[in-house]
Amino acid sequence: MPRQGQGTLLTGVRPFPLTALRHPTVTTLLDDHWALLADLMDGLGSPLHVVLPEVFEENVTGLRQAFADAGAEVDILFAKKANKADCYVSSGAALGVGIDAASSSELVKALAGGVPGHRIGISGPEKDDTLHALAVQHDCLVAIDSIDELRRLAAAARLARRQVRVLLRSRTGSQPASRFGMAAAERDAAVGLCVELADHVGFRGFSFHLGGYSPEDRAVAANEMIEHCLDARRRGARSADVVDIGGGLPMRYVDSRLWDEFLRQNDVAHYHPAKAAKGFYFYPYGGNSTTEAARKIMSHPVDGDESLSAKAARNGIRFLVEPGRSLLDQAGFTVYRVQQVEDRRDSDGYAIVTVAGNSLSLSEPWFNTDYLPDPLLISARPADDEMFPACVAGATCLESDMVTWRKIGFPRPVKPGDHLVYLNTAGYHMDFLESRFHDNPLPLKAVLRLGAGEAPPRWRLDGI
Ligand SMILES: Cc1ncc(COP(=O)(O)O)c(C=O)c1O
Repeated sequence: MPRQGQGTLLTGVRPFPLTALRHPTVTTLLDDHWALLADLMDGLGSPLHVVLPEVFEENVTGLRQAFADAGAEVDILFAKKANKADCYVSSGAALGVGIDAASSSELVKALAGGVPGHRIGISGPEKDDTLHALAVQHDCLVAIDSIDELRRLAAAARLARRQVRVLLRSRTGSQPASRFGMAAAERDAAVGLCVELADHVGFRGFSFHLGGYSPEDRAVAANEMIEHCLDARRRGARSADVVDIGGGLPMRYVDSRLWDEFLRQNDVAHYHPAKAAKGFYFYPYGGNSTTEAARKIMSHPVDGDESLSAKAARNGIRFLVEPGRSLLDQAGFTVYRVQQVEDRRDSDGYAIVTVAGNSLSLSEPWFNTDYLPDPLLISARPADDEMFPACVAGATCLESDMVTWRKIGFPRPVKPGDHLVYLNTAGYHMDFLESRFHDNPLPLKAVLRLGAGEAPPRWRLDGI
Protein backbone atom coordinates (compact mmCIF):
# COMPACT_ATOMS: atom_id res chain seq x y z
CA MET A 1 0.00 0.00 0.00
CA PRO A 2 1.24 3.51 -0.72
CA ARG A 3 2.43 5.51 2.24
CA GLN A 4 0.77 8.83 2.72
CA GLY A 5 1.47 11.98 4.59
CA GLN A 6 5.08 11.33 5.48
CA GLY A 7 6.84 12.73 2.47
CA THR A 8 9.69 15.10 2.03
CA LEU A 9 10.04 17.78 -0.61
CA LEU A 10 11.67 16.30 -3.68
CA THR A 11 14.11 19.15 -4.23
CA GLY A 12 17.18 17.72 -5.93
CA VAL A 13 15.86 14.15 -5.75
CA ARG A 14 15.09 12.41 -9.02
CA PRO A 15 11.38 11.50 -9.19
CA PHE A 16 10.73 7.78 -9.57
CA PRO A 17 10.97 6.83 -13.25
CA LEU A 18 7.84 4.84 -14.05
CA THR A 19 8.91 3.94 -17.57
CA ALA A 20 6.11 2.79 -19.86
CA LEU A 21 6.50 -0.40 -21.90
CA ARG A 22 6.69 0.35 -25.60
CA HIS A 23 5.63 -1.70 -28.63
CA PRO A 24 8.22 -1.88 -31.46
CA THR A 25 5.74 -0.19 -33.82
CA VAL A 26 5.52 2.75 -31.43
CA THR A 27 9.30 2.89 -31.15
CA THR A 28 9.62 2.93 -34.95
CA LEU A 29 7.08 5.72 -35.27
CA LEU A 30 8.71 7.85 -32.59
CA ASP A 31 12.31 7.20 -33.56
CA ASP A 32 12.10 7.09 -37.35
CA HIS A 33 8.99 9.10 -38.23
CA TRP A 34 8.83 11.92 -35.71
CA ALA A 35 8.80 14.50 -38.51
CA LEU A 36 5.50 13.07 -39.74
CA LEU A 37 4.04 13.09 -36.22
CA ALA A 38 5.17 16.69 -35.69
CA ASP A 39 3.51 17.67 -38.99
CA LEU A 40 0.31 15.97 -37.90
CA MET A 41 0.41 17.88 -34.61
CA ASP A 42 0.86 21.15 -36.53
CA GLY A 43 -2.08 20.42 -38.78
CA LEU A 44 -4.45 18.63 -36.44
CA GLY A 45 -3.79 20.30 -33.10
CA SER A 46 -2.84 19.32 -29.58
CA PRO A 47 -3.42 16.87 -28.09
CA LEU A 48 -3.43 14.38 -30.92
CA HIS A 49 -4.40 10.76 -30.34
CA VAL A 50 -2.53 8.34 -32.60
CA VAL A 51 -4.38 5.06 -33.04
CA LEU A 52 -2.73 1.89 -34.31
CA PRO A 53 -5.15 -0.73 -35.61
CA GLU A 54 -2.31 -3.08 -36.56
CA VAL A 55 -1.40 -3.45 -32.88
CA PHE A 56 -5.07 -4.08 -32.04
CA GLU A 57 -5.07 -6.83 -34.69
CA GLU A 58 -1.94 -8.34 -33.16
CA ASN A 59 -3.64 -8.33 -29.74
CA VAL A 60 -6.65 -10.18 -31.16
CA THR A 61 -4.38 -12.86 -32.57
CA GLY A 62 -2.42 -13.14 -29.32
CA LEU A 63 -5.53 -13.42 -27.17
CA ARG A 64 -7.08 -16.04 -29.43
CA GLN A 65 -3.87 -18.02 -29.21
CA ALA A 66 -3.76 -17.75 -25.40
CA PHE A 67 -7.30 -19.11 -25.12
CA ALA A 68 -6.58 -21.85 -27.65
CA ASP A 69 -3.41 -22.83 -25.72
CA ALA A 70 -5.58 -23.20 -22.61
CA GLY A 71 -7.99 -25.46 -24.53
CA ALA A 72 -10.87 -22.98 -24.42
CA GLU A 73 -13.43 -22.22 -27.13
CA VAL A 74 -13.84 -18.47 -26.92
CA ASP A 75 -15.42 -15.83 -29.15
CA ILE A 76 -14.11 -12.31 -28.67
CA LEU A 77 -16.40 -9.29 -28.56
CA PHE A 78 -14.44 -6.03 -28.39
CA ALA A 79 -15.94 -3.72 -25.72
CA LYS A 80 -16.40 -0.63 -27.82
CA LYS A 81 -16.76 1.71 -24.84
CA ALA A 82 -12.97 1.56 -24.30
CA ASN A 83 -12.30 3.80 -27.32
CA LYS A 84 -14.62 5.64 -29.70
CA ALA A 85 -12.35 5.27 -32.75
CA ASP A 86 -13.96 3.50 -35.70
CA CYS A 87 -10.74 1.90 -36.93
CA TYR A 88 -10.70 -0.78 -34.23
CA VAL A 89 -14.24 -1.85 -35.11
CA SER A 90 -13.44 -2.34 -38.78
CA SER A 91 -10.14 -4.06 -37.97
CA GLY A 92 -12.01 -6.41 -35.66
CA ALA A 93 -14.75 -7.02 -38.23
CA ALA A 94 -12.15 -8.16 -40.77
CA LEU A 95 -10.84 -10.68 -38.23
CA GLY A 96 -14.27 -12.00 -37.25
CA VAL A 97 -14.22 -10.21 -33.88
CA GLY A 98 -17.60 -9.16 -32.55
CA ILE A 99 -18.53 -6.07 -30.55
CA ASP A 100 -19.85 -5.58 -27.04
CA ALA A 101 -22.15 -2.55 -27.41
CA ALA A 102 -23.87 -0.85 -24.49
CA SER A 103 -25.86 1.83 -26.32
CA SER A 104 -27.75 2.33 -29.57
CA SER A 105 -24.93 4.52 -30.87
CA GLU A 106 -22.33 1.85 -30.19
CA LEU A 107 -24.53 -0.74 -31.88
CA VAL A 108 -25.05 1.44 -34.96
CA LYS A 109 -21.31 2.12 -35.19
CA ALA A 110 -20.57 -1.58 -34.91
CA LEU A 111 -22.95 -2.35 -37.77
CA ALA A 112 -21.56 0.53 -39.83
CA GLY A 113 -18.05 -0.82 -39.21
CA GLY A 114 -19.00 -4.09 -40.84
CA VAL A 115 -19.75 -6.26 -37.81
CA PRO A 116 -22.75 -8.51 -38.50
CA GLY A 117 -25.51 -8.32 -35.90
CA HIS A 118 -25.11 -11.93 -34.84
CA ARG A 119 -21.58 -11.08 -33.63
CA ILE A 120 -22.77 -8.16 -31.50
CA GLY A 121 -23.50 -8.52 -27.81
CA ILE A 122 -25.63 -5.94 -26.05
CA SER A 123 -24.69 -5.28 -22.44
CA GLY A 124 -25.43 -2.54 -19.94
CA PRO A 125 -28.17 -2.47 -17.33
CA GLU A 126 -31.87 -1.96 -18.14
CA LYS A 127 -31.44 -1.07 -21.78
CA ASP A 128 -34.00 1.22 -23.37
CA ASP A 129 -36.69 0.15 -25.84
CA THR A 130 -34.89 1.64 -28.84
CA LEU A 131 -31.82 -0.46 -28.15
CA HIS A 132 -34.00 -3.53 -27.59
CA ALA A 133 -35.77 -3.02 -30.92
CA LEU A 134 -32.49 -2.57 -32.79
CA ALA A 135 -31.01 -5.64 -31.11
CA VAL A 136 -34.05 -7.74 -32.07
CA GLN A 137 -33.91 -6.50 -35.66
CA HIS A 138 -30.22 -7.34 -36.04
CA ASP A 139 -30.16 -10.67 -34.21
CA CYS A 140 -27.82 -9.43 -31.47
CA LEU A 141 -27.23 -11.38 -28.25
CA VAL A 142 -28.75 -9.38 -25.40
CA ALA A 143 -27.58 -9.71 -21.79
CA ILE A 144 -30.65 -9.25 -19.62
CA ASP A 145 -30.33 -7.61 -16.23
CA SER A 146 -33.74 -8.18 -14.64
CA ILE A 147 -37.00 -10.00 -15.15
CA ASP A 148 -38.71 -6.73 -16.05
CA GLU A 149 -36.14 -6.16 -18.78
CA LEU A 150 -36.71 -9.70 -20.03
CA ARG A 151 -40.44 -9.01 -20.32
CA ARG A 152 -39.83 -5.77 -22.22
CA LEU A 153 -37.39 -7.43 -24.62
CA ALA A 154 -39.73 -10.37 -25.21
CA ALA A 155 -42.49 -7.88 -26.06
CA ALA A 156 -40.21 -6.19 -28.60
CA ALA A 157 -39.41 -9.56 -30.19
CA ARG A 158 -43.10 -10.51 -30.30
CA LEU A 159 -43.91 -7.20 -31.99
CA ALA A 160 -41.20 -7.84 -34.59
CA ARG A 161 -42.34 -11.46 -35.01
CA ARG A 162 -38.83 -12.63 -34.26
CA GLN A 163 -36.95 -14.61 -31.66
CA VAL A 164 -34.25 -12.69 -29.75
CA ARG A 165 -31.17 -14.41 -28.35
CA VAL A 166 -30.56 -13.68 -24.67
CA LEU A 167 -28.11 -14.25 -21.87
CA LEU A 168 -29.25 -13.79 -18.29
CA ARG A 169 -26.86 -11.70 -16.23
CA SER A 170 -26.41 -13.32 -12.84
CA ARG A 171 -24.81 -11.93 -9.71
CA THR A 172 -21.71 -13.77 -8.58
CA GLY A 173 -20.94 -15.43 -5.25
CA SER A 174 -18.00 -13.08 -4.66
CA GLN A 175 -19.91 -9.84 -5.37
CA PRO A 176 -23.50 -10.60 -4.32
CA ALA A 177 -24.35 -6.94 -3.66
CA SER A 178 -23.49 -5.76 -7.18
CA ARG A 179 -26.10 -3.47 -8.71
CA PHE A 180 -25.81 -5.52 -11.91
CA GLY A 181 -27.46 -8.84 -12.60
CA MET A 182 -30.03 -11.02 -10.93
CA ALA A 183 -29.82 -12.71 -7.54
CA ALA A 184 -30.72 -16.42 -7.27
CA ALA A 185 -34.53 -16.19 -6.96
CA GLU A 186 -34.94 -13.68 -9.80
CA ARG A 187 -32.49 -15.62 -11.98
CA ASP A 188 -34.45 -18.84 -11.46
CA ALA A 189 -37.69 -17.07 -12.31
CA ALA A 190 -36.09 -15.60 -15.42
CA VAL A 191 -34.99 -19.05 -16.62
CA GLY A 192 -38.58 -20.23 -16.17
CA LEU A 193 -39.86 -17.24 -18.14
CA CYS A 194 -37.36 -17.89 -20.96
CA VAL A 195 -38.71 -21.45 -21.26
CA GLU A 196 -42.27 -20.14 -21.24
CA LEU A 197 -41.54 -17.45 -23.88
CA ALA A 198 -39.39 -19.70 -26.09
CA ASP A 199 -41.21 -18.59 -29.28
CA HIS A 200 -39.69 -15.14 -28.88
CA VAL A 201 -36.79 -15.68 -26.49
CA GLY A 202 -33.85 -17.85 -27.50
CA PHE A 203 -32.16 -18.45 -24.16
CA ARG A 204 -28.41 -19.06 -24.63
CA GLY A 205 -26.77 -18.91 -21.20
CA PHE A 206 -25.38 -16.57 -18.57
CA SER A 207 -23.16 -13.53 -18.15
CA PHE A 208 -21.95 -11.67 -15.09
CA HIS A 209 -20.36 -8.41 -14.01
CA LEU A 210 -17.29 -8.62 -11.84
CA GLY A 211 -15.28 -5.64 -10.60
CA GLY A 212 -11.49 -6.04 -10.38
CA TYR A 213 -8.86 -7.84 -12.39
CA SER A 214 -8.32 -11.14 -10.57
CA PRO A 215 -8.15 -14.11 -12.99
CA GLU A 216 -9.01 -16.49 -10.15
CA ASP A 217 -12.19 -14.58 -9.20
CA ARG A 218 -13.23 -14.47 -12.85
CA ALA A 219 -12.68 -18.22 -13.23
CA VAL A 220 -14.73 -18.93 -10.10
CA ALA A 221 -17.55 -16.72 -11.37
CA ALA A 222 -17.42 -18.38 -14.81
CA ASN A 223 -17.71 -21.75 -13.14
CA GLU A 224 -20.82 -20.55 -11.31
CA MET A 225 -22.31 -19.64 -14.70
CA ILE A 226 -21.51 -23.12 -16.06
CA GLU A 227 -23.41 -24.55 -13.11
CA HIS A 228 -26.33 -22.21 -13.86
CA CYS A 229 -26.34 -23.45 -17.48
CA LEU A 230 -26.42 -27.07 -16.32
CA ASP A 231 -29.22 -26.27 -13.91
CA ALA A 232 -31.18 -24.45 -16.63
CA ARG A 233 -30.80 -27.45 -18.96
CA ARG A 234 -32.26 -29.68 -16.26
CA ARG A 235 -35.21 -27.29 -16.17
CA GLY A 236 -35.86 -27.59 -19.89
CA ALA A 237 -33.70 -24.76 -21.26
CA ARG A 238 -31.62 -27.13 -23.41
CA SER A 239 -29.98 -24.36 -25.46
CA ALA A 240 -28.02 -22.99 -22.47
CA ASP A 241 -24.50 -23.37 -23.85
CA VAL A 242 -22.83 -19.95 -23.56
CA VAL A 243 -20.97 -18.34 -20.66
CA ASP A 244 -19.92 -14.72 -21.14
CA ILE A 245 -16.97 -13.97 -18.85
CA GLY A 246 -17.17 -10.19 -19.47
CA GLY A 247 -14.23 -7.82 -19.84
CA GLY A 248 -11.76 -6.99 -17.10
CA LEU A 249 -8.76 -8.78 -18.57
CA PRO A 250 -5.82 -6.85 -17.15
CA MET A 251 -3.01 -5.38 -19.22
CA ARG A 252 0.50 -4.36 -18.28
CA TYR A 253 1.71 -0.82 -18.81
CA VAL A 254 5.01 -1.06 -16.93
CA ASP A 255 7.40 -3.80 -15.89
CA SER A 256 6.05 -5.70 -12.87
CA ARG A 257 9.14 -5.26 -10.70
CA LEU A 258 9.24 -1.57 -11.47
CA TRP A 259 5.59 -1.32 -10.47
CA ASP A 260 6.19 -3.09 -7.16
CA GLU A 261 9.10 -0.75 -6.48
CA PHE A 262 6.91 2.23 -7.38
CA LEU A 263 4.27 1.11 -4.88
CA ARG A 264 6.91 0.66 -2.17
CA GLN A 265 8.31 4.16 -2.54
CA ASN A 266 5.11 6.04 -3.43
CA ASP A 267 4.49 9.03 -1.23
CA VAL A 268 2.20 12.06 -1.24
CA ALA A 269 5.22 14.33 -1.56
CA HIS A 270 5.76 12.97 -5.07
CA TYR A 271 2.65 14.76 -6.32
CA HIS A 272 1.50 18.29 -6.90
CA PRO A 273 -0.12 19.04 -3.52
CA ALA A 274 -3.86 19.16 -4.11
CA LYS A 275 -3.96 15.63 -5.52
CA ALA A 276 -1.89 14.07 -2.78
CA ALA A 277 -4.50 15.01 -0.19
CA LYS A 278 -7.06 12.75 -1.86
CA GLY A 279 -5.22 9.46 -1.38
CA PHE A 280 -4.49 6.82 -3.98
CA TYR A 281 -6.28 3.96 -5.70
CA PHE A 282 -4.32 2.68 -8.66
CA TYR A 283 -4.97 0.65 -11.78
CA PRO A 284 -2.61 -2.37 -11.48
CA TYR A 285 -0.22 -1.00 -14.13
CA GLY A 286 2.33 -3.76 -13.51
CA GLY A 287 0.02 -6.73 -12.94
CA ASN A 288 -0.70 -9.76 -15.11
CA SER A 289 -0.32 -9.39 -18.86
CA THR A 290 -3.50 -10.02 -20.83
CA THR A 291 -2.42 -13.38 -22.23
CA GLU A 292 -1.17 -14.56 -18.81
CA ALA A 293 -4.54 -13.65 -17.32
CA ALA A 294 -6.43 -15.42 -20.13
CA ARG A 295 -4.43 -18.61 -19.52
CA LYS A 296 -4.88 -18.34 -15.75
CA ILE A 297 -8.65 -17.98 -16.06
CA MET A 298 -9.05 -20.94 -18.37
CA SER A 299 -6.65 -23.25 -16.59
CA HIS A 300 -7.96 -22.44 -13.12
CA PRO A 301 -9.03 -25.66 -11.35
CA VAL A 302 -12.75 -25.53 -10.64
CA ASP A 303 -13.86 -29.12 -9.92
CA GLY A 304 -11.02 -30.90 -8.17
CA ASP A 305 -8.21 -30.90 -10.72
CA GLU A 306 -10.41 -30.13 -13.71
CA SER A 307 -9.70 -26.77 -15.33
CA LEU A 308 -12.40 -24.28 -16.23
CA SER A 309 -11.81 -24.85 -19.96
CA ALA A 310 -11.94 -28.65 -19.58
CA LYS A 311 -15.18 -28.50 -17.61
CA ALA A 312 -16.72 -26.18 -20.22
CA ALA A 313 -15.65 -28.48 -23.07
CA ARG A 314 -16.98 -31.57 -21.26
CA ASN A 315 -20.35 -29.86 -20.95
CA GLY A 316 -20.55 -28.33 -24.43
CA ILE A 317 -20.22 -24.78 -23.13
CA ARG A 318 -18.67 -22.05 -25.26
CA PHE A 319 -17.25 -18.83 -23.80
CA LEU A 320 -17.63 -15.23 -24.84
CA VAL A 321 -15.18 -12.61 -23.62
CA GLU A 322 -15.61 -8.83 -23.86
CA PRO A 323 -12.18 -7.23 -23.53
CA GLY A 324 -11.99 -3.48 -24.00
CA ARG A 325 -8.84 -2.03 -22.48
CA SER A 326 -6.69 -5.11 -22.98
CA LEU A 327 -7.33 -5.42 -26.73
CA LEU A 328 -6.09 -1.85 -27.01
CA ASP A 329 -2.81 -2.57 -25.25
CA GLN A 330 -0.16 -0.49 -27.08
CA ALA A 331 -2.69 0.30 -29.83
CA GLY A 332 -2.39 4.08 -29.46
CA PHE A 333 -0.61 7.00 -27.83
CA THR A 334 -1.30 10.65 -27.14
CA VAL A 335 0.89 13.64 -27.93
CA TYR A 336 0.57 17.09 -26.32
CA ARG A 337 2.45 20.19 -27.34
CA VAL A 338 4.05 22.13 -24.49
CA GLN A 339 2.57 25.60 -24.30
CA GLN A 340 4.29 27.16 -21.30
CA VAL A 341 6.66 26.21 -18.50
CA GLU A 342 6.59 27.81 -15.08
CA ASP A 343 9.85 27.10 -13.36
CA ARG A 344 9.15 26.82 -9.62
CA ARG A 345 12.24 24.79 -8.84
CA ASP A 346 13.71 27.43 -6.53
CA SER A 347 10.53 27.79 -4.47
CA ASP A 348 8.75 24.40 -4.73
CA GLY A 349 11.39 22.08 -6.11
CA TYR A 350 9.60 21.39 -9.40
CA ALA A 351 8.19 23.11 -12.45
CA ILE A 352 4.69 23.19 -13.89
CA VAL A 353 4.52 22.40 -17.58
CA THR A 354 1.29 23.58 -19.23
CA VAL A 355 0.29 21.72 -22.37
CA ALA A 356 -2.11 22.68 -25.15
CA GLY A 357 -5.23 20.70 -24.26
CA ASN A 358 -6.55 19.41 -20.97
CA SER A 359 -6.54 16.43 -18.65
CA LEU A 360 -9.92 15.13 -19.81
CA SER A 361 -8.15 13.95 -22.97
CA LEU A 362 -5.86 11.75 -20.91
CA SER A 363 -7.92 10.36 -18.08
CA GLU A 364 -7.62 7.33 -15.84
CA PRO A 365 -11.31 6.66 -15.15
CA TRP A 366 -12.38 4.80 -11.98
CA PHE A 367 -9.03 5.12 -10.23
CA ASN A 368 -8.09 7.92 -7.94
CA THR A 369 -5.03 8.98 -9.88
CA ASP A 370 -4.01 10.48 -13.14
CA TYR A 371 -2.52 8.22 -15.81
CA LEU A 372 0.71 7.27 -14.08
CA PRO A 373 3.34 6.05 -16.59
CA ASP A 374 5.96 8.72 -17.40
CA PRO A 375 5.42 10.75 -20.57
CA LEU A 376 8.34 10.96 -23.01
CA LEU A 377 9.80 14.36 -23.70
CA ILE A 378 10.47 15.01 -27.39
CA SER A 379 12.54 18.08 -28.03
CA ALA A 380 14.45 19.43 -30.97
CA ARG A 381 17.23 20.55 -28.61
CA PRO A 382 20.15 18.25 -27.86
CA ALA A 383 19.96 16.21 -24.64
CA ASP A 384 21.80 17.44 -21.57
CA ASP A 385 22.26 15.90 -18.15
CA GLU A 386 20.09 18.28 -16.19
CA MET A 387 17.16 16.44 -14.57
CA PHE A 388 14.04 18.60 -14.64
CA PRO A 389 11.29 17.70 -12.13
CA ALA A 390 7.86 18.83 -13.31
CA CYS A 391 4.13 18.16 -13.17
CA VAL A 392 1.97 18.63 -16.26
CA ALA A 393 -1.09 20.91 -16.29
CA GLY A 394 -3.89 21.43 -18.80
CA ALA A 395 -4.62 24.82 -20.36
CA THR A 396 -7.96 25.43 -18.65
CA CYS A 397 -9.04 27.63 -15.78
CA LEU A 398 -9.45 24.70 -13.36
CA GLU A 399 -6.99 24.28 -10.49
CA SER A 400 -7.66 20.55 -10.75
CA ASP A 401 -6.84 20.29 -14.48
CA MET A 402 -3.58 18.40 -14.07
CA VAL A 403 -2.61 15.92 -16.78
CA THR A 404 0.14 14.54 -14.54
CA TRP A 405 -0.01 15.30 -10.82
CA ARG A 406 3.00 13.14 -10.16
CA LYS A 407 6.36 14.85 -10.43
CA ILE A 408 8.20 13.52 -13.47
CA GLY A 409 11.98 13.58 -13.72
CA PHE A 410 12.38 14.82 -17.29
CA PRO A 411 15.87 14.20 -18.67
CA ARG A 412 16.35 17.86 -19.57
CA PRO A 413 14.52 21.18 -19.06
CA VAL A 414 11.14 21.26 -20.81
CA LYS A 415 10.51 24.21 -23.11
CA PRO A 416 7.49 25.62 -24.97
CA GLY A 417 7.17 23.89 -28.35
CA ASP A 418 8.46 20.57 -27.01
CA HIS A 419 6.12 17.60 -27.10
CA LEU A 420 5.07 15.11 -24.42
CA VAL A 421 4.12 11.63 -25.57
CA TYR A 422 1.92 9.55 -23.31
CA LEU A 423 2.30 5.93 -24.33
CA ASN A 424 -0.35 3.22 -24.42
CA THR A 425 -3.39 5.46 -23.98
CA ALA A 426 -5.93 3.78 -26.28
CA GLY A 427 -7.80 1.84 -23.57
CA TYR A 428 -10.16 4.37 -21.93
CA HIS A 429 -7.54 7.11 -21.48
CA MET A 430 -8.19 8.96 -24.74
CA ASP A 431 -11.85 9.75 -24.83
CA PHE A 432 -13.70 8.30 -21.84
CA LEU A 433 -13.95 11.71 -20.17
CA GLU A 434 -13.17 13.98 -23.13
CA SER A 435 -14.94 17.30 -23.04
CA ARG A 436 -15.48 20.38 -25.16
CA PHE A 437 -14.77 22.55 -22.10
CA HIS A 438 -13.97 26.18 -23.00
CA ASP A 439 -15.64 25.47 -26.36
CA ASN A 440 -12.48 23.75 -27.55
CA PRO A 441 -12.86 21.07 -30.22
CA LEU A 442 -12.40 17.46 -29.18
CA PRO A 443 -8.94 16.08 -29.96
CA LEU A 444 -8.64 14.27 -33.28
CA LYS A 445 -7.49 10.73 -33.83
CA ALA A 446 -4.96 9.95 -36.54
CA VAL A 447 -4.91 6.34 -37.70
CA LEU A 448 -1.36 5.25 -38.55
CA ARG A 449 -0.06 2.11 -40.17
CA LEU A 450 3.61 1.39 -40.79
CA GLY A 451 4.47 1.21 -44.48
CA ALA A 452 5.97 -1.88 -46.07
CA GLY A 453 9.77 -1.84 -46.46
CA GLU A 454 11.07 1.69 -46.92
CA ALA A 455 7.62 3.18 -47.51
CA PRO A 456 6.59 5.88 -45.03
CA PRO A 457 3.72 5.21 -42.60
CA ARG A 458 0.24 5.80 -43.98
CA TRP A 459 -2.13 8.01 -42.03
CA ARG A 460 -5.73 9.17 -42.17
CA LEU A 461 -8.18 10.73 -39.77
CA ASP A 462 -10.29 8.20 -37.93
CA GLY A 463 -13.92 8.15 -39.01
CA ILE A 464 -13.17 9.41 -42.53
C1 LIG B 1 -20.33 -5.56 -19.64
C2 LIG B 1 -18.91 -5.14 -19.85
N1 LIG B 1 -18.18 -5.78 -20.77
C3 LIG B 1 -16.90 -5.42 -21.02
C4 LIG B 1 -16.29 -4.38 -20.34
C5 LIG B 1 -14.89 -4.03 -20.69
O1 LIG B 1 -14.00 -4.15 -19.64
P1 LIG B 1 -12.45 -3.98 -19.88
O2 LIG B 1 -12.25 -2.76 -20.68
O3 LIG B 1 -11.87 -3.87 -18.51
O4 LIG B 1 -11.97 -5.19 -20.59
C6 LIG B 1 -17.01 -3.70 -19.35
C7 LIG B 1 -16.40 -2.58 -18.63
O5 LIG B 1 -17.01 -1.73 -18.05
C8 LIG B 1 -18.37 -4.08 -19.10
O6 LIG B 1 -19.10 -3.45 -18.18
